[in-house]
Amino acid sequence: MALRIVPVRPDTVALWRDVHNLVIPAHPLSLDEVRERSQRNRLTLAHDGGTPVGNATIRPPGPGSRTATVIVRILPRYRRQGLGTQYLDAQLADARALGAQRIETVVLAANRDGLEFARRHGFVEFDRYTLDGEDAEYVDLYLAS
Ligand SMILES: CC(C)(COP(=O)(O)OP(=O)(O)OC[C@H]1O[C@@H](n2cnc3c(N)ncnc32)[C@H](O)[C@@H]1OP(=O)(O)O)[C@@H](O)C(=O)NCCC(=O)NCCS
Repeated sequence: MALRIVPVRPDTVALWRDVHNLVIPAHPLSLDEVRERSQRNRLTLAHDGGTPVGNATIRPPGPGSRTATVIVRILPRYRRQGLGTQYLDAQLADARALGAQRIETVVLAANRDGLEFARRHGFVEFDRYTLDGEDAEYVDLYLAS
């Protein structure tokens, strides 16, 4: 079944946050942080039939930039069915429609499946770092193909 991808709305901010915090427990977000991000970024939820299965973030190119960041997240129990690939393809198309010529993503270094997924989809690592006050290591990748 095709994923149904819908922009986050005021009544789905909590669901978006819950999906984010389940997939990225190293960096939990509050409702206010998600609301603030929804002003700057394109936040969506993905549904398979009636069931929420994941969420995504597109950071559009800023002024004078042609780079967008795309991050898709699928809840663990719905993985390895092709949903992440379907979601990523749709989000890459949306990012390009926003003017992006370079596309980047961010994956937790500990997330081997996520790194492998990104590499299989043409992303190449260009940076690794930790954020202030956090132990988790992040990997920045750009889409080379
Ligand atoms: C990365 C992530 C989105 C992948 O989601 P997913 O729904 O499992 O993705 P897919 O099912 O499309 O592909 C995952 C793997 O399952 C395999 N697969 C796809 N359909 C399959 C099926 N029907 N049966 C078995 N395996 C299958 C794919 O070959 C793929 O393997 P690969 O990554 O080694 O190429 C998910 O693991 C996730 O949310 N991780 C945390 C967040 C993150 O790291 N995001 C990456 C930033 S873009």
